[in-house]
Amino acid sequence: MKKNVLITGTSTGVGLQAAVLFARNGYKVYATMRNVSKAAELETYRKNENLAIELLPLDVTKSNTIAAAVATILSKDGKIDVLINNAGAGFAKTTEEATEDEINWVTNVNYTGVVLCTKAVLPHMRKQKSGQIINVTSVGGLVGQPFNELYCGAKFAVEGYMEALASYLSDPFNIRITCVEPGGISTEFMKSAISKTSIEGQLATGEYLPIFERYMAGIQKRGNESELNLYQTPEEVAKILLEVASNENPPLRIRTSEWAEEFTALKTELDPDGSKLIQQLKSTFL
Ligand SMILES: NC(=O)c1ccc[n+]([C@@H]2O[C@H](COP(=O)([O-])OP(=O)(O)OC[C@H]3O[C@@H](n4cnc5c(N)ncnc54)[C@H](OP(=O)(O)O)[C@@H]3O)[C@@H](O)[C@H]2O)c1
Repeated sequence: MKKNVLITGTSTGVGLQAAVLFARNGYKVYATMRNVSKAAELETYRKNENLAIELLPLDVTKSNTIAAAVATILSKDGKIDVLINNAGAGFAKTTEEATEDEINWVTNVNYTGVVLCTKAVLPHMRKQKSGQIINVTSVGGLVGQPFNELYCGAKFAVEGYMEALASYLSDPFNIRITCVEPGGISTEFMKSAISKTSIEGQLATGEYLPIFERYMAGIQKRGNESELNLYQTPEEVAKILLEVASNENPPLRIRTSEWAEEFTALKTELDPDGSKLIQQLKSTFL
C-alpha cells in the first residue's frame, strides 16, 4: 500500500507544492485546507497529472475539523504515515499594538494548531509503531527578529515542543520528528502578513514607526546586498520536505537554504541537525 501523508495548509505556497510533489513521488496525499473553495490550483494539478490527491477540510484552530480529517484517512487507509504541519501565518506587529485576539490567533495558527494536529495522529502512529511528523517552522523558530516577536515566539514554541517529543518518541515508537526551517519563501505569506498587521496603512505607530521603517529598509538592503538568496521558491522547500520524508534517519532540524543556514549559525553551529541534543536528552532523562 502507498505511503500516505496528511498536509495542512495546501491552498497556496509550500503546502500546495508539497501536495503535488509528494503525489508525483508515489504518496497518497491528503491535502487539507481551511477553505476548500481555494482548491482550484491544486485541482488543476490533480486533474492534469492524474495525481493521488484527496482534498479534505481542516482548520488547524478547530479540533473538530482535525478529528474529522484524521477519521476519514483512517477509515480509508487504516493508517497515517506522515503528518506535515505546514499551515502558518506571518505576523509583524509590536506586542503593545497587537490586540488580545490577534495574539491568540497568531499563537493558535502557528503553535497550538501544530499541537492539536500532532495530538490527533499520535495514538495511531504509536500503535503502528511508525510515523513521521514534519514541521515547517522557520529561521524565526531559532532567531527572534524585530517586530516578529509574536510569530517567532510561536515558532520557537513549535521547535521546543518538537524537541521534547522527539526525545521520547523515536526509540520506543519509531516516530520520527523534523523541524524544517526556511528563511524567506516567495509565497503569499509576506503579503498576507502585511495586510493583516497594518494599522490604517502603516505597519506601526508613534515611537515605533521610525524603528519599524528602519527594519523594513534593512530587510530590503540585506536582500539586495547578500550574495546568498534570502528568498527561495516553495518548490525548493517542498523538495526538502520530500527528502526528509524519504530519509530513514531524518534530522531533528534542517535549514532549507544557505541563507537560512548562515542566518541561524550562532544558534546551530554546535549541533546543526539536533542529533547531539537528542542524544543528551536521552542520556540525561531516559
Ligand atoms: N513565506 C515565508 O517567507 C516563510 C518563511 C519561513 C517559514 N514559513 C512557513 O512556511 C509555512 C507555509 O507558508 P507559505 O510560505 O507557504 O505561506 P502561504 O502561501 O501564506 O501559505 C500558508 C498556508 O497556511 C494556511 N492556513 C492559514 N491559517 C490556517 C488555519 N487556521 N488552518 C489551516 N490552514 C491555515 C493558508 O490557508 P489560507 O489560504 O486559507 O489562508 C495557506 O494554505 C508556514 O508555516 C510559514 O510560517 C514561511
